Formats: sequence, C-alpha cells, structure tokens
Amino acid sequence: MNLFDVYPLLNITPVHGKGMFLFDEQGNRYMDLYGGHAVISVGHSHPHYVKAISQQLEKLGFYSNSVKIPIQNELADKLGAICGYPDYSLFLCNSGAEANENALKLASFKNGKKKIIAFSKSFHGRTSLAVAATDDKSIQAKVNANDDILFLPFNDTAALENAFNDEICAVIIEGIQGVGGVNIPDVSFLKLLRELCNKHNAFLILDEIQSGYGRSGYFFAHQYADIQPDLITVAKGMGNGFPIGAVLISPVFEAKHSLLGTTFGGNYLACSAAIAVLDIIEQENLIANARNIGNYLTAQLKEFKQLTEVRGMGLMIGIEMQEPIASLRNRLIQEHHIFTGTSSNKNTIRILPPLCISKADADYFLEAFSSSINN
Ligand SMILES: Cc1ncc(COP(=O)(O)O)c(C=O)c1O
Repeated sequence: MNLFDVYPLLNITPVHGKGMFLFDEQGNRYMDLYGGHAVISVGHSHPHYVKAISQQLEKLGFYSNSVKIPIQNELADKLGAICGYPDYSLFLCNSGAEANENALKLASFKNGKKKIIAFSKSFHGRTSLAVAATDDKSIQAKVNANDDILFLPFNDTAALENAFNDEICAVIIEGIQGVGGVNIPDVSFLKLLRELCNKHNAFLILDEIQSGYGRSGYFFAHQYADIQPDLITVAKGMGNGFPIGAVLISPVFEAKHSLLGTTFGGNYLACSAAIAVLDIIEQENLIANARNIGNYLTAQLKEFKQLTEVRGMGLMIGIEMQEPIASLRNRLIQEHHIFTGTSSNKNTIRILPPLCISKADADYFLEAFSSSINN
C-alpha cells in the first residue's frame, strides 16, 4: 500500500535524536531549528521524558475515561500552577485541531450563539470548524463551508469595532500567528478583543497551540498583553512529540457529563509525557532560556541588512527576506545541516527550535545563515 502523498518531503531520514539534534542513517547530524513544527519543546529524547513514558508503559498503557486516572489530575495541577491559570479546568484531547473544535463548541454551548470572528492569515487546524476558521480556502472542502465565520484583518482595531455585535459567539486568535508568517497581535488589539467580548457576551479563545508552552518566553504568548482569555487551546509542545492537546477552561463554564468526550484524550502515556515536559521546563528554566536566546537571536538577525523584517517573540521567529526563501533554506539544510521552517509567506523562514537551544547553537546558526545569504 502506498502512503497518501500529501507532504513535500526533505530527502532526509532521521533515525534518532538528542536535544537540539537529529541524526540520519549515515550518522550525519542536523541542528533542528524547526522543532518538528514547534512540537519539540524540551529536546529530542530527553532522558527524564523517555523514562517517564517507559515507566508508565510498563505499568499501564491505556484505559478509557470511564475510570479514575489520577495522572490526569496531576497533570492539571502542575499545568495550572506553572501557566498561571490554577482556577481554570482542563479538558484533555489529542491534537490542536481537536482542542480548537472543543473550545469553539464550548463557547457556543454556553452562550447559544454561532457567529465566530477569526483573522486574516489565521491557522487553527484541519477539522471541520477549525479549518473553517482558518484563512486558507485551499484547505477547505465544500463541506467545510461555514457562513458563520467572519474573517477580519489582523490587528485592525477599527474593523474589529465595526464588526462586533451581540450575535458574536466567540473570537479565535493565535497567541502569535505561526503558519501566517509569525505575526504578533498588538497589545491594544488583544485588550480591545477582551473588552468587546465582555461587552457583547462573546468568548475569547486564544489558540496557543504553536505559541504556547514557553515558546514566546512567557508560558502563553498572550500573557505579555496582560489579558485573560476564556478558553486557551494547547497541543504541540505539550507532549514534546507524544500526541496530546487540551483546552484550558475558565471557571465561568460549568462541566456536565457527556458535554465533551474523547476515547484517547488524557490517556496514561500522553499524561506521563506531558508531566515530564512540565518537569523539564521547570527544572531547566526553559522559559527564561527561550526569552534570552530568542532575544539574542532576534537582535543578531536584525543586524543583517539583507532582511526585510525580523518578527517574533522568544523562540518563535520569522525572518522575512526580500525574495522567496526556498533556495536559502535548501542551502541551510544541505550545506550546514540546519532544519528551518517555512510559512504561508513565501519570503519568510520560521525558526521554532526546542526551548533548550544554547547560545553556542544560536551562534552556529547565525554563522551558517550569514554565509548562506552572502552566497
Ligand atoms: C496555531 C495552530 N493551531 C492549530 C493547529 C493544528 O494543530 P494539529 O495539527 O495538532 O491539529 C496548528 C498546527 O500547526 C497551529 O499552528
């Protein structure tokens, strides 16, 4: 049977990983500044992470959500404390798209409305409502068509004020837009969103699937704007590669049996992975590291005159060039063995390294970048 061919592939076969690095079958080493699409938070094959999942597997791999699973409560307690939302509750699922589906559903269950505001260049996943709220017609099938999603220009306060009314059920926005090319919402824009949601009985959903879990130098990117969303969605870095997603739910939402559900969400292995990730983030001060190395990288990149713009926060950085980045990215992979990411903006390279990146790693990249653009 052939694989359904939906991904353009690099001609590289990683067979093992360690921290910031991947190794192929011939033992060639690659620096991972893409983090498997912002998924690798604490580094490849971290020993504490490997041990936690292995030990859990030896005890019990799976049982359904019909029994008590204390490791879920342990995860919720740890996450609540470290992220600054101890009074929110946690719904565990398996992916980012699923987290967004459930967040949008919860908003609509609660206020009984159905109009959603989303923004230009947004990406929220590929399932029905998540893809309908994604600003990319090319990945929406006819069955995903949804007249209740209103796309507004990103960071445009006037458009937002004009469009908002009592019919709005929820607003969904990324903490930092990732796929769209690393675009940061203005503090004033996020504050206005919060205000308008309060005024019109709408819910504010922060999609922190890519920008969360310490990547921005804050636990959640929106925390730099000092606002509190009603619902926060997470996935990617949460499990460092073990599939897990979640919705953090403000206390205004009451839970009811069967309101939401999942077979695999909150399984023992995913929880043990997610707890190990939080342990490592805390023990190794990875959020401070993301901020420090991220600031360093951004400042150094801004020195290159050939760049149009450097955008980002912490270790989520968009490097916009004057021309398409395809050949530059190829040079970085082939000549310097460095993985970087792309975005929907053809001129923008996306940097999403594991949060354990060191200054020496950053310098190695800067040198390779310098020689690649001067080539
Ligand atoms: C901001 C954002 N939201 C949602 C998703 C979808 O997550 P998943 O692929 O786990 O469904 C992604 C994935 O890239 C994302 O970047």
